[in-house]
Amino acid sequence: MRLSLRFVLPLLLALGAFAWAAVPLVDAWMTRWYLRDLDTRSTFVAKAVQEPLDDLLSSGSSTRISGYFNRLTDDERIYAVGLCTGRNAAVIGSNAFPAEIKCSDLASAFSKERTIATPHGPLHVSIRSTPVESVPGATVILVHDMAFLASRTEESRRYLFYFFLALSASVALITVVIAQISWRGWVAGLRALLHGEGILRTSAKATAPELKPIERDVSALLRDLERVYRPFDERQQRWTQETLRATLRGELRGNHIIVVANREPYIHVRTPDGIRIQHPASGLVTALEPVMRACSGTWIAHGSGSADRETVDRDDRVDVPPENPTYRVRRIWLTAEEEAGYYAGFANEGLWPLCHNAYVRPNFRKTDWDYYRLVNARFADAVVHEANGDDPVVLVQDYHFALLPRMIRERRPKATVITFWHIPWPNPEAFAICPWRSELLHGLLGSSILGFHTQFHCNNFLDTVDRLVEARVDRETFTVSHGGEDTVVHRYPISIEWPPAALAATPSIPESREAVRVRLGLPRDHKLGVGIERLDYTKGIIERFRAVQRLLELDPKWVGNFTFVQIAAPSRSSIESYRGYNERVHAVAKEINAQFAGAARPPIILLPTHHEPEAVYEYHRAADLCFVSSLHDGMNLVAKEFIAARDDEQGVLILSQFAGASRELPEALIVNPYDADQCAVALRIALAMPVDEQRDRMRLMRNIIREFNVYRWAGCMLLDAATMQQRRRFEADNGSKAMLVAG
Ligand code: F6P
Repeated sequence: MRLSLRFVLPLLLALGAFAWAAVPLVDAWMTRWYLRDLDTRSTFVAKAVQEPLDDLLSSGSSTRISGYFNRLTDDERIYAVGLCTGRNAAVIGSNAFPAEIKCSDLASAFSKERTIATPHGPLHVSIRSTPVESVPGATVILVHDMAFLASRTEESRRYLFYFFLALSASVALITVVIAQISWRGWVAGLRALLHGEGILRTSAKATAPELKPIERDVSALLRDLERVYRPFDERQQRWTQETLRATLRGELRGNHIIVVANREPYIHVRTPDGIRIQHPASGLVTALEPVMRACSGTWIAHGSGSADRETVDRDDRVDVPPENPTYRVRRIWLTAEEEAGYYAGFANEGLWPLCHNAYVRPNFRKTDWDYYRLVNARFADAVVHEANGDDPVVLVQDYHFALLPRMIRERRPKATVITFWHIPWPNPEAFAICPWRSELLHGLLGSSILGFHTQFHCNNFLDTVDRLVEARVDRETFTVSHGGEDTVVHRYPISIEWPPAALAATPSIPESREAVRVRLGLPRDHKLGVGIERLDYTKGIIERFRAVQRLLELDPKWVGNFTFVQIAAPSRSSIESYRGYNERVHAVAKEINAQFAGAARPPIILLPTHHEPEAVYEYHRAADLCFVSSLHDGMNLVAKEFIAARDDEQGVLILSQFAGASRELPEALIVNPYDADQCAVALRIALAMPVDEQRDRMRLMRNIIREFNVYRWAGCMLLDAATMQQRRRFEADNGSKAMLVAG
């Protein structure tokens, strides 16, 4: 307040002084302006009366002239009018004509204009000669009432007063606000400097309530980074297959690892040429398969291949990889009804759209839910059967198995269950629409560790538990205590193996460029973009095509010189929303190619078939750019595969801001897939990007993925699990002693 007064009082005084000096000036200016106005009017009136006066004077009747003048004084500002026909003549005037004005005085006292004081008030006199024919030298005298001026001046003063009042109030208000803001900021900055803090750093005490969630995220991120970097810094190790294996042997006493995932890493399919192995298009498999090659153990999955039954032993197991087996796959058989209810129905028509912001409505059906429970129980049986001891380490994968962690815990209380949710976790309002929300959360809270790709999804999960379950949520340690059990919720950003195994079998970059262009019928120097994924509505394939269309409309030089090749592996085609999406993708590709039908080469080539990893890497190596435009994605490993494929450090990645990978890869061109114009600009930038810039960006991104590879992802989870096991053993051995000391 004092501060405000210090600014405002001098300001008000200055404005007051200014107003005080301004009033006489305005008075004088008003008077001058009014008199000039009167004189101009007088000249007009004198001219206007010339003709009627001529007639009246020739009639010789002064009474008629006075009558005429009386009529003229109907104008409220003309007080009186008179006429002098000669120096010694009497004035012929209107009724109110002032007696003190005489014809004999005109030449001396009234040269032309003058203001005189009368008992009536001040009057202004104007004299105009009027050349009437009958009386040469006749003069018209116009007398104006000056009272009008007084009232006008008074009115102007009043306006002036209000104007200054409003001006003072506005200026004072603005000054106070600016002064307060800059004073506080300046004082805070000075204090921060005196305390040795950076200007941007605020103390915890000063955190505004609306900034608390950000503060919480940043602290969690710092803790996370510290945790991720600690093992690396302490051991100076780069995570590889070997370090992961050593971690397992050392920290987890060589525990047998069990992975549970719906999708199997090797699918045996019957073809006209015999049984062949197919590697599914799945981020989960891409990430976990190398981990299992390093760790050994058992991967329990749905046996979905047409020749799967023919290739297992009596216990439904098959050793893989076929060329050099290091672990085994245990296949679970599902009937068509079970698969439709658990996989297509509850998992992919319910949970998948529930967790992705792609504006596809989730469908929940009781029959699907029943199958989901039944299949989870079937997998729980398999886990118990495959486990060597009573404390196995089980890695439960994804939204197909939300109930499984609890089922395992109930049957093997000493098991370490690490659950990883590969897709986003929605906010509590969105999640709450699921009719079986409590059962799902209760199931997941059977996990020892629950992992998500991003901190944001961890936060969403804790918020959901906080809102929907009777549990204690500790946001310091990110732990949920529920029914006497603790679940640690952590961020583990998934990645790919480094270097990818498939790369070894892929031709060199020049060979890949050549082979792909020949296959697609494109010239050698033709610019090529790629998109590679399952045909899924969350991937933004249509948005990507629209961006290509926009590019060609905005920059026609690329018509016929740039082609986007989209590999779209068929996926979940028993589900209506996927079939509809498939049709729309085909229709949009056709529409855009028709729009540019005159071009030498089509803008879009759609390859809606499954491609094996070597073929995928070949396309990555052949392309000038890769476009990942997911509308919502937990991580997206295609982006990371493109980077891993480019050992020439060339090529540009365009990446959706809604894919988890965008947090780790800021050197990509980050776009909003809903904004076609922005994406078109990104395509244009990518196509024109100098090789040096491509190298700088690619080098940074390759360094990130080399360090933060999938061995680190699995290693961090296993190290956390090991710490948890050790703590549990210590508590079991020393619990009573520790309690005695505490007591
Ligand atoms: O990445 C999410 C995910 O659902 C994986 O869990 C799954 O393996 C992949 O997509 C492919 O989906 P699907 O197994 O249904 O073909």
